[in-house]
Parts: sequence; structure tokens; C-alpha cells
Amino acid sequence: MTKSLTIGFVYNVRSKKYDEEFLKKYTEWDYPETIEAISSALEETGNKVIHIEADRSVFHKLEENKDKIDIAFNIAEYISKDLFGAENREALVPMLLEFLNIPYSGSSPQALINALDKAATKEIVSAYGVGTAAFQVVREYPFELDKKLKFPLVVKASCEGSSIALKQSSKVNNEEELNERVKEVITVYNQPALIEEYIEGTEYTIGFVGRLIVPIMKIDLSKIPGHPSLRDQEVKDMEPEYTFIKVKEKDKQALSLLNFDETYVYLATQAAISHDALRVRDFNRMDVRLKDGKFYFLEMNPLPGMHPNYGDLPTMAKGAGIDFDELVNMILMEAIRRYASNPLFKERFSQKRIEKIEEKYNKTLQKLGFYDREVKGIWYKYRLVKKKDL
Ligand SMILES: Nc1ncnc2c1ncn2[C@@H]1O[C@H](COP(=O)(O)OP(=O)(O)OP(=O)(O)O)[C@@H](O)[C@H]1O
Ligand SMILES: [Mg+2]
Repeated sequence: MTKSLTIGFVYNVRSKKYDEEFLKKYTEWDYPETIEAISSALEETGNKVIHIEADRSVFHKLEENKDKIDIAFNIAEYISKDLFGAENREALVPMLLEFLNIPYSGSSPQALINALDKAATKEIVSAYGVGTAAFQVVREYPFELDKKLKFPLVVKASCEGSSIALKQSSKVNNEEELNERVKEVITVYNQPALIEEYIEGTEYTIGFVGRLIVPIMKIDLSKIPGHPSLRDQEVKDMEPEYTFIKVKEKDKQALSLLNFDETYVYLATQAAISHDALRVRDFNRMDVRLKDGKFYFLEMNPLPGMHPNYGDLPTMAKGAGIDFDELVNMILMEAIRRYASNPLFKERFSQKRIEKIEEKYNKTLQKLGFYDREVKGIWYKYRLVKKKDL
């Protein structure tokens, strides 16, 4: 056995071999710079990285390398375009990895499936007492609107991430707009439409790394040109110019780190309950809104965007003083921990072989500050990382 680990890095990349039209649909696929940044972070702790693009031959590639790979670092979202819209697409690679008995980072197929089905996620978190907007799932067009739902409403594709079917016109004010949008989601995106009451409130995104909650980010859409009401892809493309990293004047930041107070603790508590409810592991990012002091869960991303400069989770981690290499190694270490005590994998994750990863993990932890919480309930498990003064 070699001194370091061999990591199978599994991903979907927006490479030049795919045409523009195709990539427009697959907005979740990662940019080459994200693949390079993760790969170099994994190498930084002495590991060997085998690149595995999650295309149609992913199973064969994994099977071929099965005996070489100690652990897979998985960020794959789809395998083929035939799976577009299916709530199981993110679970496919983890299922293959389970089948081949290869340890991997991130959530189980079950958690990935539940989180990709936005309505199922809402049902699960609300069973744990977490607030979420009233909703209806529509599978066939035409349909009848549930009388309990009050305009304005938001119409989303029920199983898509990265705002694929979402635009400003997804917020609808009357039956006519509603019908138009629902019809589009069902026919163009070929999946059920999720109709939700529009929550006119402040938006936050909450990131998890293992049992740490990184500084919560507030998204103030009124600071973005055009004052959009939804955070769609176009808005996200504009945001980097208005983050706390780019802009120093606080009143001009659309994306800023929240100050620690009662609201912070409330948001983090509800988020931690939701994270546990879905049994998410290693990393996660959750979108929520707060209206009249009440928490509304929107959705969670157990495979959050990891672009080193634009991803929300890397951005929030930066706000705590965790750089990109550290973030990736922390996620990896969380995954290794899960397997290290298992007799099947004990030898491959011996102290000697994981030394550098663990050292980086511990060094990162040591430099972080934490907000004090009385240790009870959910706070036995989670810790709130302090934001760094930037
Ligand atoms: N019920 C709602 N009330 C108010 N705004 C909403 C609601 N649902 C969604 N939004 C807005 O639309 C955005 C995108 O919605 P959501 O996060 O559910 O979808 P997404 O397309 O999966 O996004 P992601 O890129 O995070 O995967 C939210 O960030 C929020 O701004
Ligand atoms: Mg979202």
C-alpha cells in the first residue's frame, strides 16, 4: 500500500466537447476551473487523483479503477441527458460506488433523492416542525389550483437545481400567469411543477461542512440592479460584483455575512434540524427566507456549487477564514472519518496514509473562532463558526 491515498474524483464538466445549447440546459455541470481547483486541493495533501467524468461509461471507469481508488470525491450531478429532470440523477454515482464497495464523500443516495425532489424535502422538514411555504405539486396540465394557496405564487420545476427553470416571471400574480408557467415546466422541463406561496422576506443561505455551520450569508436582492424578487441564474451571474468579498462598503453589499444574534441562532437551529431530517452528510447548503420573524425553508443542496470564486459555500467558508483547499480537505476528512473505523476500510485509512489530510483539517479547525452556544439539543452536534473580520 502506498503512503498516500488515491482519490477517484467523479464529476460532470462543462467541457468544449459539448455544444452551447446542451450546456445551457446543464447549468449544474461544473466549470473546468472548479474541477482543477478541487483536484489541486486533493493533491495538496499528497493524494493521487484519478479523474472520472460521470458520462455514460462511468460505471466501467469506476469498475476498472476499483482496486486503485481508496475513496471517491463525488460532485457528479447527472450521467446522461436521458436522466434530465429525474429526482434520482444525483444518486446514481453514489449507488454505483456503493455497489462497487468504494467509499465516497457526500450524502447517501437516499438523501440526494429526497433533496432533489423539492416537494418531498418540504414534506420531510415540515414533519420535523420546520416552516416552509404552503405548496401544491402539479403533474398534469390542465390542473386546478388548491384553494388554500394565495397569490403571489412561485412556480418551480420540482426536481431541478441551479435555478434551471426559474426566472423572474416564475413569480406569478394571477391564474393566467400561473397556467403559463405550470404548462412550461411540465412540457419543456418534462417534470412536475411545484407551486409555492411567494414569501416576501429576507433571503439567507446556510452552509454546512461536517458538523460546522459556516457564517450565514444574507442575500439582499434590493441591492442588485433591477431589484429582482427571485434569485435566478441571471441574478447569480451579477452577484459576484456585490459580495462582501468584492465590495467593502456595507450598504452596497448584496451578499453579506449576517451578524451574530438571536435571529442567527434561530436560522441555524432550523437549518440544522432540516439538515439532520434529510440525513445529509459532509457538506450542504440550504436556501431559506425569513418573514415576520418566521423561518421558511426553500430547498437544500447536498451537492452545493463548489466554484472557488463564485460558489456560495466556498464564499461563506472564506468569510470564516477557511480557504478553498482547506474546505475541500475538510469535506474529504469528514468522509474518511465515516469509514476509518469500519474493519473493511481500517487499513486503507490508517493514520499514516491520512496524516496530511488530518493535519490540514486540524490546523484549519484550530484557527477558527466559534460562537458560544449553550450546549443542549442540536448544539451537542453542531458548532457555529465565527465570521472573520475582513
Ligand atoms: N416560495 C418562495 N418565496 C419566495 N422566493 C422564492 C420561493 N421559492 C424560491 N424563491 C426564490 O427563488 C430562488 C431559487 O429557488 P430555489 O432555491 O428553490 O431553487 P433552485 O433553482 O434549486 O436554486 P439552486 O441554484 O440553489 O439549486 C430562491 O433563492 C429565492 O430567491
Ligand atoms: Mg436555491
